[in-house]
Amino acid sequence: MTTPRALVAGNWKMNGVAANLAEIEKLNGLIAEGGANCDVLVCPPFTLIHQSLQVADDRVDIGAQDCHANFSGAHTGDIAAGMLQDQGCKYVIVGHSERRTDHHEHSELVSEKAKAVQETGLIAIICVGETEGERDGGNTLPVVTTQVRDSIPADATADNTVIAYEPVWAIGTGRTPTIADVAEVHAAVRQVLVERFGDSGNTIRILYGGSVKPENARELMSVENVNGALVGGASLKADSFYGIIQAYD
Ligand code: 13P
Repeated sequence: MTTPRALVAGNWKMNGVAANLAEIEKLNGLIAEGGANCDVLVCPPFTLIHQSLQVADDRVDIGAQDCHANFSGAHTGDIAAGMLQDQGCKYVIVGHSERRTDHHEHSELVSEKAKAVQETGLIAIICVGETEGERDGGNTLPVVTTQVRDSIPADATADNTVIAYEPVWAIGTGRTPTIADVAEVHAAVRQVLVERFGDSGNTIRILYGGSVKPENARELMSVENVNGALVGGASLKADSFYGIIQAYD
């Protein structure tokens, strides 16, 4: 069974102005010096995508945090996947829990967005995760596996799909699930992917996200079926983001 090359992705969320591009420059330097034994991605806000692409060197990919499900049209304020592809983005995050909460995005819409991303030739990072109430109620596995099933578009392939498991209660809180809990959820997601894609489901990267830091990255990244990280707060500074990348030394 092929283990996929890991992906460490930074989600800057609604943070960053031009001055913060210095962190990408610094990241270039840290990787040039110390290497990176995984794929590296930074997803800045839309306003910094163009400049980020100019600053990032070959070893740092740039992606977006969301897109519209349609290819063009009367959707004031929205961004289409083709626009992101045109800029040079390689990945688009869809269905982040903050969008599921703030913008009431459900898996059906997430699937439509992922379809737009994939039809444009980009890779969709599809986010899933349970709330604290769902975990306390013992519903983590059904909630997460249903989100995975419902959020992956019909025409998706193993090559243009990444799943990010982010327990909602672990995002920005400093709390993380136990290693056993991470292993259990990632194994359940893997099973859904193999049911859906056959053997190539084993090649799809399943990222863990939620309070990943340099201090806990090595342990989290060593769990079976964890093929990288989706990092929020700790991705804003090159030093801490690179500390997570180094989990793959
Ligand atoms: P934190 O790493 O800040 O917990 O955020 C995780 C996340 O939501 C990444 O998409």
